[in-house]
Amino acid sequence: MGMKTTGAAFHSSAPDLASCPGWSLPEFAFIGRSNVGKSSMINMLAREEGLAKVSSVPGKTRLINFFVIGGTWSLVDLPGYGYAKAGRKERGSFGAFVADYLRHRPNLLGTFVLVDSRLSPQKLDLEFLRWMVGCGLPFILVFTKADKLAGEAAQKNVGAFLGSMREISEDRPEFLLSSSKLGRGRPEILGLIASALAEKPETPG
Ligand code: GTP
Ligand code: MG
Repeated sequence: MGMKTTGAAFHSSAPDLASCPGWSLPEFAFIGRSNVGKSSMINMLAREEGLAKVSSVPGKTRLINFFVIGGTWSLVDLPGYGYAKAGRKERGSFGAFVADYLRHRPNLLGTFVLVDSRLSPQKLDLEFLRWMVGCGLPFILVFTKADKLAGEAAQKNVGAFLGSMREISEDRPEFLLSSSKLGRGRPEILGLIASALAEKPETPG
């Protein structure tokens, strides 16, 4: 038994928090460095190629994109941070509107922070996670592109990253490995989403 993701559809794009949909659908957001595989992950979860726009060129997703699943909950594709070709101001940081969304969206039920499993711990990811922890925002770490490295090499990077996380957070973060190419991590992520939906307190409207 797994959660169904039939009826996936693009809803809208927002350039700021105020423009986000005025609904109370539970949302699950995907954030991480540019090119880490956020949009690919949304397509993998929805089993619909081309739902979210994917590109080998970093900086493809520039707005907050909302996808509705079965009319009942939403996957949210966020712009990546660390997009090198962005304006100098943006480089290495992420849009204030993304920070606003992560901190102030009442119906955001889960945030998945994607990290490239091929790399040793990167300062940009750790800085972002330090910000998340500082804001008291919960998250689940997803190490992406696990198909690209042999199991051991990826495990080594994951271990090193979790080691670096100890300097940021006292709690051991929840994490999993994924491959959008192979569908790896899909049952785990959908399982986490299903649990969050089951626990959700009833909200009016
Ligand atoms: P931005 O929107 O630019 O922030 O990037 P993004 O995080 O949405 O990344 P996107 O999904 O567009 O993927 C970036 C590149 O990585 C594309 O060329 C994808 O095909 C590739 N990619 C994403 N996930 C995987 C994966 O699991 N395995 C492999 N081999 N390639 C992947
Ligand atoms: Mg994208």
